[in-house]
Amino acid sequence: MWRWSRKAAIADFSTSPNSVKITPEPRLLLVQQLAKVSCISTLTAPLSKLAVRHHRSHSLPSLSRQPSPTRPTGQAEELPFLRELHKSQRRLPFTVDLPSPTTALLGFLLLIVLAVQFLLPQLPLPYRELFLRSYPKPAPLSCPPAPTYNPFIQDLYCRVPVYKPSSIYNKSPRSMALAAAAQRVALEFEYSAQDVNRGVYEFIREMDEGLSKQGATMSQIPTYVTAVPNGTEKGLYMAVDLGGTNFRVCSIQLHGNSTFSLTQSKVAIPKELMVAKTSRELFAFLAKQIQQFLQQHHGEHYNAHVERRASVFGPPHDEQIFSLGFTFSFPVQQSGINKGTLIRWTKGFDIHDTIGKDVCALLQTEIDRLGLPVRVAALVNDTVGTLMARSYTSPGKTGTLLGAIFGTGTNGAYVEKLDKVTKLGKGADVDHSTGEMIINSEWGSFDNHLSVLPDTPYDHSLDAESNNPGIQMFEKRISGMFLGEILRRALMSLVDDKSVPLFSDEHSNQNDVHSTTNIDSDSPLRKQWGLDTSFLSITSGDSSAGLKVTRQTLDNDYGISAASAEDAEAVRLIAAAIGKRAARLSAVAIAAVVISTGKLGDPQNIATTSTTEVNEDDVVDIGVDGSLVEFYPNFEEYIREALREIPEIGAQGEKRIRIGIAKDGSGVGAALIALVADKAMKGDVTRPAGGVEGFLGSLWSALNRNLRVMV
Ligand code: GLC
Repeated sequence: MWRWSRKAAIADFSTSPNSVKITPEPRLLLVQQLAKVSCISTLTAPLSKLAVRHHRSHSLPSLSRQPSPTRPTGQAEELPFLRELHKSQRRLPFTVDLPSPTTALLGFLLLIVLAVQFLLPQLPLPYRELFLRSYPKPAPLSCPPAPTYNPFIQDLYCRVPVYKPSSIYNKSPRSMALAAAAQRVALEFEYSAQDVNRGVYEFIREMDEGLSKQGATMSQIPTYVTAVPNGTEKGLYMAVDLGGTNFRVCSIQLHGNSTFSLTQSKVAIPKELMVAKTSRELFAFLAKQIQQFLQQHHGEHYNAHVERRASVFGPPHDEQIFSLGFTFSFPVQQSGINKGTLIRWTKGFDIHDTIGKDVCALLQTEIDRLGLPVRVAALVNDTVGTLMARSYTSPGKTGTLLGAIFGTGTNGAYVEKLDKVTKLGKGADVDHSTGEMIINSEWGSFDNHLSVLPDTPYDHSLDAESNNPGIQMFEKRISGMFLGEILRRALMSLVDDKSVPLFSDEHSNQNDVHSTTNIDSDSPLRKQWGLDTSFLSITSGDSSAGLKVTRQTLDNDYGISAASAEDAEAVRLIAAAIGKRAARLSAVAIAAVVISTGKLGDPQNIATTSTTEVNEDDVVDIGVDGSLVEFYPNFEEYIREALREIPEIGAQGEKRIRIGIAKDGSGVGAALIALVADKAMKGDVTRPAGGVEGFLGSLWSALNRNLRVMV
């Protein structure tokens, strides 16, 4: 009955709208008010329109009691059931205008929208992630139309314009099959905003776990870096860096008149030594490089040392021995400034008998065997060196929070509060005066159990056939050692699929260079580790006409001749997807460190706009090094995009994060720590005034007092 009467009333209203005077009810005013002030006005606008309709329909029964003066006679008669209804309403002493079910529902929905808007950022991450969605971002306006509506793929096409072949075959079924297959594979590497947020949550959990117990997935290794120089240094300090691909030897000469100079040499590590039968083979090679470096660059000192040893005056004095900082970029359980046992090899190294041994002692033994005037004074991870070097050189007085490597491997060292490092225990021999310590996270092993990491068939088979399956799973999706191999596997899956015409033509007319594509039988594409990660940088950044650079590289380096433009486009698309995923995964690690250390405070409270500069005090400084972050096109841009998608950071927080390259920071950092360690050994140290930033600052100013960089 009620429904019927409302329907009739609406019909009546619509025929004579002028007869009705509508006074907005308070509920409607509230909705309109909210629509004005809220950023969800687009949502509330249709709601307020709907509310108007409801308001009108409610008021009609009482209005229709007065016959309309404009209504022609004969049409003013009320229907009997309406009269009945009005009579029953008249008997009421007052009328309660209850909201209709639709209005109530809309109001309820509005409340939910407001709650999500204002309360979501306050919820703890596990609850918040239930609500998180990956919102497809519209492509930038400059973006050419791409043959897909997926924002992930669209974005890849945006970075480099799609090549538009002039060939009449570009719309052929073969071309379209290739384009569709490439897009399908590229999509397998999509890593959404929701994935990023889930990753951050799990990363923070594993960081905390690593600080509280030994043997956790993420090692979170304390570094024991505590002493500072007193600023009167003179002499020659050395650093060596065993990173993954190369071995670097360098020396820093402190002139004692405010200057120093850096000399360095680099040699590729022979592949067979990475998997040698004994540690000695590798460490003897390293010692040999140190010897050659000394002979070449410090011949006088070296020869004098050799002569002194042979003479009746006996072995050299302490001050004639070089102190050496050893950057050893593998997971080590450090037990002192120059002591640490290898936990596991990474990045393709696999020498069984090194595990559990003190790597400083192994190097010292080989150095002594050659009778070199060198003492291994400090053991440093490359991330720690990067953090130190960046902290000294970053603009402004802000101390660096994180040193990160995105190169052959990936890892980060950051400044942590000592009382969070509960696994050290109360009795640990630690200098508590700073209240902080640099922690080497060894984040390459984040989520080895794959609870949140993406796992395509290519990731899966790469890991299964690696020399350390199930280990360094994060690193295997990010770093230079592995990205080329992921791409190789993805491309081979298409080459092996007969329905996909990648690098294959039926005849020369199907190819814009009028030949047929050929893959050499011994092409590196067919061999494990055959495709170098530098190829990803080359092709992802290729904007040459017809993707000529990509095609030339395929021909010269990979034995793939006469690849068509469409082949190159397919390769570029997949490579770009792999690189973009790596950068977004890197953002997970950076975000987790920034959030868990609370360095941003409340990003919402910082008043920055796109036009205003971030205040120096609000900057969170991060030092990075490694071939990927240095050379992969848009790597930092992709990281920043992902950072903005994390509510705790957002657009405001992302602006406060300064990411700067600390080129060769590991070598410089190691030499500086060697200097500190040397001073500490001789009892010639100044205790830090407080805070690691204070420590780094005082080290830097001490150095500044005495040195001027002459690199
Ligand atoms: C690997 C090593 C780590 C190093 C990183 C970057 O992840 O385990 O110690 O810092 O590579 O070189």
